[in-house]
Amino acid sequence: MSHDAVAAADHTMRHWDGGEPGRIRIGSDAHKRLFCRMILDTHNPYKPAVIEWPALDADTLHRITSLPIWDIAVQTEGKAKLRVATYTNTIADPLLREALTMDGDEEARHKVVLSKMVEAYGIPLAPEPEYEVPKDPEWGWLVTGYSECIDSFFAFGLFESAKRTGYFPAELVETFEPVMQEEARHILFFANWVAWYRRQLPWWRRPAFELKVMRVWLFLIWERIGIAKGLDNNGEMQDANFTITGHQQIGLDLKISELLDLCLAQDSFRMGGYDERLLRPTFVPRMARLARRFMR
Ligand SMILES: [Fe+2]
Ligand SMILES: [Fe+2]
Repeated sequence: MSHDAVAAADHTMRHWDGGEPGRIRIGSDAHKRLFCRMILDTHNPYKPAVIEWPALDADTLHRITSLPIWDIAVQTEGKAKLRVATYTNTIADPLLREALTMDGDEEARHKVVLSKMVEAYGIPLAPEPEYEVPKDPEWGWLVTGYSECIDSFFAFGLFESAKRTGYFPAELVETFEPVMQEEARHILFFANWVAWYRRQLPWWRRPAFELKVMRVWLFLIWERIGIAKGLDNNGEMQDANFTITGHQQIGLDLKISELLDLCLAQDSFRMGGYDERLLRPTFVPRMARLARRFMR
């Protein structure tokens, strides 16, 4: 792709308004069309195979390759890819199916980007576990969606911080920038899907769904506590506590309060370009704002 084409694709992925004018009721068919079209129309068609990985000087290379995030990053994308695809297979609605396919394909592409990078810089990786097909496809989709809402929020701030301090060299920031924005699109899509799905469920199925959502949150909290302790379900050492202790691990001199401010600012910046009638993911930012009130 030419430089102009790349710039145009980048602009397209960040700015989008739905074609249908007027108010849109959450849970309606028009709402479904809005969030499905958003993810489809803003897709950036970059090809991981042609990314040129910049040569890094010895210090930078060491810093990047010794970051404890690569195993978990590869595995997270691997799980996400499988979970989204499994759920997609249960969906008959053509537009929703197309949108979910796009979402899952982008997760698959994230994994390719990461493996190309790992290969280019000789980053040592732990062998990948076998990814399990979720027995309940909807559960897998909800787990992926909500965990992205948590992880992407923190990743936005950490990424910005690593960019500002030069911890990540500019060329690498540029390479990963579209991936970050893709995660923003994914959580925007997910937040709207949840709101739409809830509303269109018959009343008698809603309690079971809300219960499932609560179980998902408990699972995610439990998973993150395990992660923070450095252990996964099998008792193996993991490095997934990155979103929690990431600012220390990448050696940034950043107070938690400053990190939260950065996350909040980046979150609204990344969500800013999309149709205002789409709901924004609000739970994690709200918690961050709440926590922020108790900090200086
Ligand atoms: Fe991803
Ligand atoms: Fe994602």
